[in-house]
Amino acid sequence: MADLNKGEEPVDRKSDVSATEAAEAAEPAGAVEAAIEAPVERGEPILQVRNLVKHFPLTQGILFKRQIGAVKAVDGISFDLYQGETLGIVGESGCGKSTVAKLLMLLETATSGEVFYKGQDITKLSGRALRAVRRNIQMVFQDPYTSLNPRMTVGDIIGEPFDIHPEGAPKGDRRRKVQELLDVVGLNPEYINRYPHQFSGGQRQRIGIARGLALNPEIIICDEPVSALDVSVQAQVINLMEKLQDEFNLSYLFIAHDLSIVRHISDRVGVMYLGKMAEIGTDAEIYDHPTHPYTQALLSAVPVPDPEAREGRERIILTGDVPSPANPPSGCRFRTRCWKAQDKCATEVPVLAIPERFKDSETLAAHESACHFAEEKDVVHAA
Ligand SMILES: Nc1ncnc2c1ncn2[C@@H]1O[C@H](COP(=O)(O)OP(=O)(O)OP(=O)(O)O)[C@@H](O)[C@H]1O
Ligand code: SF4
Ligand SMILES: [Mg+2]
Repeated sequence: MADLNKGEEPVDRKSDVSATEAAEAAEPAGAVEAAIEAPVERGEPILQVRNLVKHFPLTQGILFKRQIGAVKAVDGISFDLYQGETLGIVGESGCGKSTVAKLLMLLETATSGEVFYKGQDITKLSGRALRAVRRNIQMVFQDPYTSLNPRMTVGDIIGEPFDIHPEGAPKGDRRRKVQELLDVVGLNPEYINRYPHQFSGGQRQRIGIARGLALNPEIIICDEPVSALDVSVQAQVINLMEKLQDEFNLSYLFIAHDLSIVRHISDRVGVMYLGKMAEIGTDAEIYDHPTHPYTQALLSAVPVPDPEAREGRERIILTGDVPSPANPPSGCRFRTRCWKAQDKCATEVPVLAIPERFKDSETLAAHESACHFAEEKDVVHAA
């Protein structure tokens, strides 16, 4: 249940909501709310993340806690999410993907940086404007087994967001709304009184998606939504998500570690390493023309079904473990595992930008890459 609550409002905020509801209802609609409710043209940025940082303090001592450091889970990330697109985020376990998701959902407070939703910095909003943002940005979680409360019926689970945002389903209309949502995600509306254990993994994830759609959001943050499912079921859920995106004009931030799935669903892809964005571009730029050694290594490990292509491929094996985010390497964070590292890599942090050498070129290598020595390498990539 904890996870589901997270998808909406943190538990401690719920009581605030009812207490302030009457006062908020009396407030006149401000310029900020008007901006938040205004539509965004397809292809325009709907979310702009700028220098986002999340450091978790590391403390020592039982009675007198003192900070001895910080886990730099997200350490200065910037990217845009365009209206109607799917931006995939990939990277090894612990690189900060879920922390980014939680920061965008305002489930974690950013250490610094901004998140602009339709031009408004949502990290600084409160009151009605904040509620409107929360309604418009929803989340689908990884594990459909633990993210649904086993003691609640499917109808109550999917309809729960209406407790906090009653305007989403006027009184008396809630049951019909929930049944409509069940139908939209391909489940029988008659199942409304069943419990989560009566459904398969794929069906449960459909319930999670229905819940995410309940308030008619504009953005859905999907944190590994199919990783816990069988391969055949993964495809069905991905197809459903693509269909819903067209139907409801949704923008997705799609977090996953499976590069093939991310390519299938994404328009653009960002590759994260140790709290930073290593490379970002369209799926063709990243998969066919990667210029960052980390992306190249990840792609070289993707299984290739074609035996001829398999024979010709160079597999890049990364040595060493991912360093601790509490003590990341100086300069380029990837340098301790990079086969191309030079002295400059230890002293200068590479900026995420189009590399100088590709700036005037028409090639798909001309996309943002945080490497001092960015260049193309012929890695056999995922189909
Ligand atoms: N609440 C927290 N307190 C302290 N450290 C945290 C907290 N949440 C996350 N971290 C640390 O931040 C780093 C990034 O974690 P995060 O969960 O964002 O990674 P991830 O990329 O989603 O990994 P995975 O692929 O395993 O889900 C990790 O080192 C993790 O241990
Ligand atoms: S900046 Fe240096 S260490 Fe970092 S990826 Fe590029 S070559 Fe490797
Ligand atoms: Mg995660």
